[in-house]
Amino acid sequence: MKIDVYLIPDEIAEERLKDKTAVVVDVLRASTTICAALSVGARAIIPADSISSAIQLASLLSRSAVLLCGEREGKLIEGFDLANSPFEYTRAKIKGKTLIFGSTNGSPTIIRTRQARHTVICGFVNLDVVVEALAEITDPINILCSGKFGQFAIEDAICAGRVVAELQKLNPSIELNDGAIAAKNLAEYYWDRVPEIVAGSHHGQYLTQIGMDADLPFCSDLNRVPVLPVFHDGKITLAK
Ligand code: MLT
Repeated sequence: MKIDVYLIPDEIAEERLKDKTAVVVDVLRASTTICAALSVGARAIIPADSISSAIQLASLLSRSAVLLCGEREGKLIEGFDLANSPFEYTRAKIKGKTLIFGSTNGSPTIIRTRQARHTVICGFVNLDVVVEALAEITDPINILCSGKFGQFAIEDAICAGRVVAELQKLNPSIELNDGAIAAKNLAEYYWDRVPEIVAGSHHGQYLTQIGMDADLPFCSDLNRVPVLPVFHDGKITLAK
C-alpha cells in the first residue's frame, strides 16, 4: 500500500491518477462547504472550473432545481446564489437542489481527479469518516492539497498529514512519498493547535480581513460534519 501527498495540485498530472484513489483537501473552504451542503440534503454538487462553465452547466438544468454557488476572492460572484461559507448552506436553501460549485482552487482540483478510480473530498470536518473509508481501499492513495493559486497552504498539508498518520497507525508498512512524510510531520507538530494555525494561515488571515472569520472555527472543527463526499462522473454526492 502506498500513499502519496501532493502539496500543490500541479505536482501530479491528471493521467497519473488513473486506477488510484484520489483525496482532495481544501480545508478553507471548499471541502468544508461541500460537506456542509451534502449534510443538509444537496442532491449533488457539480464542480465547475470557471465562472462561465458554471453558468453554462446551470443553463443545462432546470433553474428552479439548481443553485449557482462559489466564490472569487472568497466572495459571492455576481449573479450567483451562494458564496462559499459553510454557514450559508442551510437545509432550507439546499435540500433537494443540485449545486453548481465554482470555487477558485478547490473546484479545479476536484476536476483534476476525474481519471481517478475514486475521489473522496476531505477536510478536518469529516476526517475520521475519510480515514475509515480509505482504510478499506487497496488502490494507491493520492492526496491532493488544493493550496491557494498553485501555492502551498499549511492547513491543507496538516489535514492531509493527519490522514496519513491515522492510516499509518492502522497499517505501519504503508509506503509514503516525501510529500506524505512532510505532511505527516507537520500534522504531528501542529496537531494541538489546528484552529490557531488555520486562523493564522495566509488564507485564514485573508478570510478574517474580508469578514469571514466565523468560518475559521467551523473549518477547523474536527469531525463536525461526518459525511463522505465522493466525486464520480462529474458529480459530488454522498457515498452510498
Ligand atoms: C477555493 O476553492 O479557492 C476556496 O474554497 C476559497 C474560499 O475560501 O472561498
